[in-house]
Amino acid sequence: MNVLKAQALSKIYGTKQSNVTYRALDHFDLEVEAGEFVGVMGPSGSGKTTLLNLLSTIDRPTSGRIEVNGIDPSLLRNKELALFRRRKLGFIFQDFNLLETLSIKENIVLPLVLDNVKVADIERKVKELAEVLGIAHILDKRTYEVSGGQQQRAAIARAIIHEPAIVLADELTGNLDSKAAKDAMESLRRLNEEQGTTILMVTHDPFAASYCRRIVFIKDGKLFSEIRRGTNRQAFFQQILDALSVLGGNFDDVANARQE
Ligand SMILES: Nc1ncnc2c1ncn2[C@@H]1O[C@H](COP(=O)(O)OP(=O)(O)OP(=O)(O)O)[C@@H](O)[C@H]1O
Ligand SMILES: [Mg+2]
Repeated sequence: MNVLKAQALSKIYGTKQSNVTYRALDHFDLEVEAGEFVGVMGPSGSGKTTLLNLLSTIDRPTSGRIEVNGIDPSLLRNKELALFRRRKLGFIFQDFNLLETLSIKENIVLPLVLDNVKVADIERKVKELAEVLGIAHILDKRTYEVSGGQQQRAAIARAIIHEPAIVLADELTGNLDSKAAKDAMESLRRLNEEQGTTILMVTHDPFAASYCRRIVFIKDGKLFSEIRRGTNRQAFFQQILDALSVLGGNFDDVANARQE
């Protein structure tokens, strides 16, 4: 089943009046099936964040179509769109975006509280997820009392606790050291493999990308190439480095890519 479908997605920034327009995304097609773990990679300025902003309905395409679980978000009115975003999508950000005034647990359960889910169900879910993510012992702490890696795993829990159709992540390892990045990616891999969580992740980091099962490469707003992982993640890591060198462009991280 298709969870996400983007057809001929284009985004032109700027206005005709100003005479300065920029085509950041150019007839981009993407389909993501339920249970997939897809990475999006491309040089700086290639349109990755633009793509994610369109898919997450933060911004609207200039032309083209998006469907999530068969629903075209552009047809929804404001209130419906807000609900759609809250229920069907999960977000993970580079800077975690946790609320400082809440405990880790309160942050994680927020999407369920907003939807009036029963307390007993909330307790069960948060416990189960915290075990998988290795953060059961910090649930009562405040965000500033735990490490960046723990904050990001809490943010991952918050992004998936309401079982969204798809989780969208932009550079989720960008602010993590290599150990914390590895823990976060291992967590996502488990969630994908054991719970069938569908994930679409933008990343510069070939190491983080090696946890995906498929990677699409984007260049100048267009789909450039695509690779799929076999069974071996280390081999996939090498495949990713090769694909990036073919892609060219500005890749800050490749020169000092984390090695195994
Ligand atoms: N609001 C905007 N107005 C005008 N141009 C924009 C806007 N946002 C992005 N762009 C341009 O669109 C292109 C794609 O930007 P985007 O942020 O999607 O790239 P990216 O692939 O995410 O890059 P990075 O890896 O550096 O995050 C860039 O050339 C950028 O300058
Ligand atoms: Mg970006």
